[in-house]
Amino acid sequence: MRKLTIIGTAPDDFKSIVKGVADVFACDFKPIAATLGVAPGEFTLIDIDLNEGAQLGQLKDWIARKPSGAMVLFVTDKSSHLEVMQACALGGTDFIHRPFNKCELLAKLVAGIPAAPVGGAPPLVPQAPDGFGAAIKGLESVFDQASLGRSIDAAMIQSAAGAVVDEIERTGLATWVDTVRAHHSQTYQHCLLVTGVAVAFANRLGLSRADRDRLSFAGMLHDIGKARIPVDILEKPSPLTAGEMLEMRNHPQYGFDMLNEPRVVSAEMLDMVVHHHEYLDGSGYPHGLRAPEISDLVRIITISDIFGALIERRAYKPPFTGAAAYKVLCDMGCKLDQALVREFEFASKFDQHHFKSAV
Ligand SMILES: [Fe+2]
Ligand SMILES: [Fe+2]
Repeated sequence: MRKLTIIGTAPDDFKSIVKGVADVFACDFKPIAATLGVAPGEFTLIDIDLNEGAQLGQLKDWIARKPSGAMVLFVTDKSSHLEVMQACALGGTDFIHRPFNKCELLAKLVAGIPAAPVGGAPPLVPQAPDGFGAAIKGLESVFDQASLGRSIDAAMIQSAAGAVVDEIERTGLATWVDTVRAHHSQTYQHCLLVTGVAVAFANRLGLSRADRDRLSFAGMLHDIGKARIPVDILEKPSPLTAGEMLEMRNHPQYGFDMLNEPRVVSAEMLDMVVHHHEYLDGSGYPHGLRAPEISDLVRIITISDIFGALIERRAYKPPFTGAAAYKVLCDMGCKLDQALVREFEFASKFDQHHFKSAV
């Protein structure tokens, strides 16, 4: 049976939770001080005061020793961006808001167990490739800076962008998607999928190395503005109200502002960040641009963004297959550049067995 270590200060709070997950996980409750001398296991749930600085440095070092791909789930306050970012900065791979019930916890934990391949028992956790590790580190750093209102240091993302291009060229889109789905916290899953899809698309289009790097960079940064959207809106499991939708639609402009004041990226990067929700027929936002005003790189990011969102795994919905997600792009008609959508057809097969390592 898989083991779940729970680190906290109030074991009674977890009695019913422990019962609820007992069929899948053997739970072991420990105070933080009793944990640090033993190496982390595959699954850890941490419910501590993230404003209590005394042991956080030690905790960060402890989490850094976790096995590759292990899940470290932080319990956070729903209304606190700072707690979520603090959890990510400490090395958490995901978070769950209090109060939560046993079903919500189980859904999070089970999402961290990779599916077994046909024909044999896999290692529990696949090895994370270098480009992936660099991308996660870069994203943690810039989302942390953005949520704290600091200026963005884009250098880490820039160097990670090149590593991701190398990674996708070496292992292919299918492996990248598998890695993202198996390893990473919900917070960065979308950015990593869009990045991988955009790089594979750029490869397919035969774009230059400079353009592949630009698209990788833009994939990671395109939604940086969401760091300013309240978590309640970002993670609302039901449809947004009109007011919430208006706030959500501010994220491209927020991203532009973050990267422009002071200016830390090129003009074309700003263009991709602020315009990735524009459509060729003028129905997009925030500026309602029309086809002649929308660059090829923006068009590529927009297609990759929509596709990446559809193939994401969420606790409350299964991911679209590549074929189903591709059909959505085709059905969007004149909103998207359909000549580019036709070139994108390769991505519709990323989850078919024969496609593995083909791109
Ligand atoms: Fe977006
Ligand atoms: Fe996006």
